[in-house]
Amino acid sequence: MDKIVLLDDTTVLRQRIEQVINSTGHNQVESYNQRHYELSREDVIYKDAKLLIVDADGIKLNWRNLVQDLRQKDYSRTLPIILVTANVSLNMIIDVSKYDKVDILQKPFNDMKLIEKVLWNQPAPTLEHVVNQEETQVSGGSNDRVKLVWSNDFMIGIDQIDREHKLIIDHFTKLYELMREGKGHTYYHELMTFLISYIDTHFSNEEKYHKEVAYPGIKEHIKAHRVFTNKIRSLVESSKDKTVSDQDLININIFIKQWLLHHILVEDMKVANYVNDDK
Ligand SMILES: [Fe+2]
Ligand SMILES: [Fe+2]
Repeated sequence: MDKIVLLDDTTVLRQRIEQVINSTGHNQVESYNQRHYELSREDVIYKDAKLLIVDADGIKLNWRNLVQDLRQKDYSRTLPIILVTANVSLNMIIDVSKYDKVDILQKPFNDMKLIEKVLWNQPAPTLEHVVNQEETQVSGGSNDRVKLVWSNDFMIGIDQIDREHKLIIDHFTKLYELMREGKGHTYYHELMTFLISYIDTHFSNEEKYHKEVAYPGIKEHIKAHRVFTNKIRSLVESSKDKTVSDQDLININIFIKQWLLHHILVEDMKVANYVNDDK
């Protein structure tokens, strides 16, 4: 199991995060008080870590210095980092967007959002793993076995964009159900056809909206859209004229999940936060 490092001084937050992460099957959460963030201990703390979660509101630690330091070290150059904070400002969003693999989790957050962020950093799993893990992990932190379906947690508060996000989540739900029944392969090409036209429409609608509201992160956001577009095109290309394999299903599952769990909840949410801050 991968090591997750938690840097936090608040016992309540720490216990909650540990409990939620443990419910996803991760039993290797190592928690450190933020005063342990010392140069001499860095390599011990971060070596072999697969994810770092930091309470960015801790007074003993400046998250900007921490991220900058970690990105300069070989062992933590690409370590995914989740900054947990109650104070998401435009400056913070701009600073975070300078780095790869640095996410923000806004307080207060529900268990599902935390799990989604942790899931996003999972290494590539097997087909069986994908189906089983989704059933147990995307469970809102409780023991209920529920699948990933549209909920208010995904809403960013911009009607048209929310409707379009619901559409892709519904397709993911269908893929998930068919994969469980062992029928995912037959759905694959239909899903690809949908995705190709969906990303065109959805991305151009979003980008139009970004321009309307003069969203300052538009360049980075468009770049992320292009990466997704290229990825989906290469997936379509690689599966053309051949039998759909388990690997194809895993790839498309991971692709949509990254889309759902990262892009909507982090990147698209930044736009909503910007618009709301502006009001
Ligand atoms: Fe979107
Ligand atoms: Fe987007």
